[in-house]
Amino acid sequence: AMVGKGNHRHYMLKEIFEQPAVIGETLRSMWNPASGIIELPPVDIDLAAVSRVTIVACGTSFLSGMVAKYWFERVARIPVDIDIASEFRYRDSPLEKGGLSIFISQSGETIDTLAALRHAKAAGQKTIAIVNVPESTMAREADGVLPTLAGPEIGVASTKAFTCQLVLLACLVIATARARGAIDGAAEARLSNAIAEVPSRAAEVLNGDEGIQALAAQVAEARDVLYIGRNTGYPIALEGALKLKEISYIHAEGYAAGELKHGPIALIDETVPVIVIAPSDDLFEKTFSNMQEVMARGGKVIFLSDEKGCAHIGDAAWGTIALPAVHPFVAPILYAIPVQLLAYHVAVLKGTDVDQPRNLAKSVTVE
Ligand code: AGP
Repeated sequence: AMVGKGNHRHYMLKEIFEQPAVIGETLRSMWNPASGIIELPPVDIDLAAVSRVTIVACGTSFLSGMVAKYWFERVARIPVDIDIASEFRYRDSPLEKGGLSIFISQSGETIDTLAALRHAKAAGQKTIAIVNVPESTMAREADGVLPTLAGPEIGVASTKAFTCQLVLLACLVIATARARGAIDGAAEARLSNAIAEVPSRAAEVLNGDEGIQALAAQVAEARDVLYIGRNTGYPIALEGALKLKEISYIHAEGYAAGELKHGPIALIDETVPVIVIAPSDDLFEKTFSNMQEVMARGGKVIFLSDEKGCAHIGDAAWGTIALPAVHPFVAPILYAIPVQLLAYHVAVLKGTDVDQPRNLAKSVTVE
């Protein structure tokens, strides 16, 4: 099917701006607005009986899996093992009986993830594929399929597929928590309500695009950029760095904020922008103090937080991006958006081929 760019300059920007709509689509496939209850499409897997979850994927899809690990463990109280597919498929790790393996892929065709799925199936795991292409090979071969409804993603840099994966995984985590009796009705309602708000909150984040664009000029001058975060903000830091590398060709790294002082802080000087993912949550103070260590060494901080968090830092940062205040459970979905926009605007300033970055293919079907 032909997909146009609409009035956007690039597919990537169009796809970023589609997120409130396609997140809403994906959510509606799993959430009954009348009851407010999350109901997964039928998969022939007994979630109550799952003793362990293994998540396998590549690239950005791997990073949505990493967010899900934090969610599964904290909310559903289920241990999660996660690996990138190219390692998992040759690692030959012992897979527990009664285990559920989840494979996440936009295309459903990534060769390493497909091989990992076949390996897990042969080892007796129940398998779920989370794919954006419903007729893909992974969708055909897995025991169960949970489709993201992001629609065709043309830009090589994944954006809307990622946030739709996150929304879907959040719903899967809640359904698993309920099946296992790990969550009571009131807690479930709080999380479900937080998810239901994501499409409108995502639209608010997109309204802040101009402010993000204004920060891009300074980031475009940098040779290296660091992204830091804790908990589910850590995979978002990794995703921000991946986006920037892919499309702007600026060297970027994501780190767990608490790991900074174990090495990477040596990189900090006044030429290094540090993007801090800091929603108001139970780890805010910790991330904040890591940020102060960066500022003390001259690092140029771009601080992403909500109103309360931004008030905390005042005008001490080089730049701030204020996001709506949301339940910490859904924060990673919303904080994904400004890091996409920042990478996009930096790449445009650099004059790169945003939708078709050098050396990359949309779907990696060879090893
Ligand atoms: C993301 O921006 C990348 N281009 C890449 O990391 C991608 O997420 C990865 O190749 C996995 O693809 P898939 O989701 O189609 O399996």
